[in-house]
Amino acid sequence: MSLTGVRDSQELRHSIRDLVALSTLPAIWKGYDPQQIADSVAAALLTMLGPDVVCVSLPGEREEAGIEIIRTAGISAELDNAIRTALQGWLRSGSSSQSASAVPLGHSTLNLASAPIGFGSDAILVVGSRRADFPSESQRLLLGVAASEATIALQRWHAEADQRRFVALVENSSDFIGVAGLDGVPQYINAAGLRLVGLGGLAEASRLHVLDFLMPKEVALVRDELWPRVMRDGRWVGELEYRHFKTGAAIPFLVEWFRIDDPRRGYPLNIATVSRDLTAQKRAEAELLHLNDTLEHRVADRTSELAEAHRKLIREGRDRELADARLQEMRQELFHAARLSAAGQTAAALAHELNQPLTAAANSVAAARRLLANGGEGIVTALEVMGEAGEQILRAGNIMRQSREFVSRGETEKRVERVSTMVEEARALALKGPGAPGVQVRLHFEPNAPHVLVDRIQIQQVLFNLMRNAIEAMHASRRRELDVATSLHDERMVEIAVTDTGPGLDDDVAVRLFEPFVSTKPNGMGLGLSICRSIVEAHGGRLQSEANPGGGMSFRFTVPSAPHDGDNNDR
Ligand SMILES: Nc1ncnc2c1ncn2[C@@H]1O[C@H](COP(=O)(O)OP(=O)(O)OP(=O)(O)O)[C@@H](O)[C@H]1O
Ligand SMILES: [Mg+2]
Repeated sequence: MSLTGVRDSQELRHSIRDLVALSTLPAIWKGYDPQQIADSVAAALLTMLGPDVVCVSLPGEREEAGIEIIRTAGISAELDNAIRTALQGWLRSGSSSQSASAVPLGHSTLNLASAPIGFGSDAILVVGSRRADFPSESQRLLLGVAASEATIALQRWHAEADQRRFVALVENSSDFIGVAGLDGVPQYINAAGLRLVGLGGLAEASRLHVLDFLMPKEVALVRDELWPRVMRDGRWVGELEYRHFKTGAAIPFLVEWFRIDDPRRGYPLNIATVSRDLTAQKRAEAELLHLNDTLEHRVADRTSELAEAHRKLIREGRDRELADARLQEMRQELFHAARLSAAGQTAAALAHELNQPLTAAANSVAAARRLLANGGEGIVTALEVMGEAGEQILRAGNIMRQSREFVSRGETEKRVERVSTMVEEARALALKGPGAPGVQVRLHFEPNAPHVLVDRIQIQQVLFNLMRNAIEAMHASRRRELDVATSLHDERMVEIAVTDTGPGLDDDVAVRLFEPFVSTKPNGMGLGLSICRSIVEAHGGRLQSEANPGGGMSFRFTVPSAPHDGDNNDR
C-alpha cells in the first residue's frame, strides 16, 4: 500500500467514524433549542475537522433573536481576535453564498468552507483553517452532513415549538376539544373537555365511544344522521346535549364537528370537535326569559289594575252622575214644592183675607134682613147695615184686585199714606168682628211721623190681623185694653205697635209664631201672622213680637216713613 493509499484509507476511516458520530447527533439534540443545537454542531465540527474556527450563524426567525456562534481552537488570543474579525467581515460582505473562499489573515490566508442550514434561509455553517489543503473532499462532505443534520434538527425544533403552542392553545382552551378515530373512539380530549364531562383522564376516555358522550335522546340522531353527515360533508355545527359521566346531568353544547383528512392523499383520518359549553348562556337566557315573563306578568298585572281602576273611576263617575241627577231631581222637586207651597200660600192668604170682609158682609146682610123683617124704625138701621155690607164686599173686591196685581207684577203698589187714617179704618173693621164689645181701644200717633210710604190695603190687613188677634186673645181677660201707637223707629222708618192685655203666648206657639198654620183657635187658619210678616218684609220693614212686662203681648212692625209734604192721598 502506498503512503497516499494509507493516508486515504485512514481518512476514509475517520470520515466514516465522523459520519456515524454525526448521525447520532439528532438523537442527542432531541429537546435541544437552536442555541444548544448550534453549540453542539460547532463542538462536533471542531473535533472532527480540526479547523481554526467554526461559525454557526442563525438569523432570528419571526420575533426570535439571531444566534451567531464562533468557536476557535488551539490558537492565541491575538489570532482568535484576528480570525473573528476576518470571519465577521466575510459574513457581512455577502460572499458567504459561496461554498469556499479564502480571506487574508495578516501574512497568511484563512480558507473557509461553508454550507447553508435550512432551505433558502441565511443560516450558515462556516469552518475555517489556515491550512492550505483545507477543505478536503471528506471535510466538505462532513460539513454538508452536519449542516443537513442541523437543518433537520432546527426544523424539528420549530415544528415542535408550533406544536407546543397549539397544544398549549388546545389545553388551555375552556372549550371541549377532542379528536376521535373513525371508529368513534376518542384519541384526544383536552383538559377542559375532560373536566366538563367529568372524566378523570385520557385513559378513561379512550375506553369510551363518541356516542357515550351524548344524552340518550341524542344518540340515534348522531349515529344515524350527524356522524355520517360529518363523514360526507366534512363539517356539522349545531346544539347537542352531552352527558356528565359522574352526575348524569345534561350539558348543553354548541358543537362543531369536522373531519380531519390526510393532507396529501385526502382520505379521512379523524373526526374532531370543538364544543362550547352553553350552560351559563342557557341559564342567562332562561333568566332573561323568566325576567321577561315576570315582567310581562307584572305589566299585565299592572295593566289589569289600571283597567280596574279605570272601570272603578267610570263606575264612580256614573254613580256621581246618578247622584248629581238625583240631587238635581230633588232640587227640582223641592223647587216645585216651594212653588206649589207659594201658590198654596197665596191661595190660602187670599182665602184668609177674603174670609174677613165676606164674613162681615154676610153678618151685616143677616142683620139687615132681621131689621127689615121687623119693619118700623129698624129700616133706617137696616139701610146703614146694608151700607156696611156693601163696603165689606167692595173691600173683598179690592183684596182680589190687589192679589191679582201682586201676582202679576210681583210687587205692591206703594203710596204716601197718613198713618192715623189707616189705623182708624183698620180699627173700625176689627171691632166689627165677634168679641169686640167691651174692648177698650187707645190710639197714639207720633206727630213727627204722620205719613208712611206703603200699600194701604196691605198694611191695613196687617193692622186688622194684629188687632183681631189681640181682641181674640183677650176674650176671656178681665182687662181688655188694645193700644195702637206709632213712633219714629229711626229717620227712615216708622214703628207701629199693637199691644194687648191678654194672656200672652203659649210656649209651643211662641217658637213657631210666624210659621203658617200655627193656631190655637178652633176656627183659626194660623195664617194671619205669617201673612203679616210677608207684607211687612215686602215693605222693607220688620215684624216682631214681645211679651209685655205687665202681661199681654206687643206686636211691633216698621214701615218706611214718608216726607210730610208728600201727603197727597189723605182722605
Ligand atoms: N196677641 C196675641 N196674644 C196671644 N196669642 C196670640 C196673639 N196673637 C197670636 N197669638 C197666637 O198665635 C197664633 C197664630 O196667630 P195667627 O194670627 O197666625 O193665626 P190665628 O189667629 O190662629 O188664625 P187666623 O189665620 O184666622 O189668623 C194664634 O192662634 C194664637 O194662639
Ligand atoms: Mg189671627
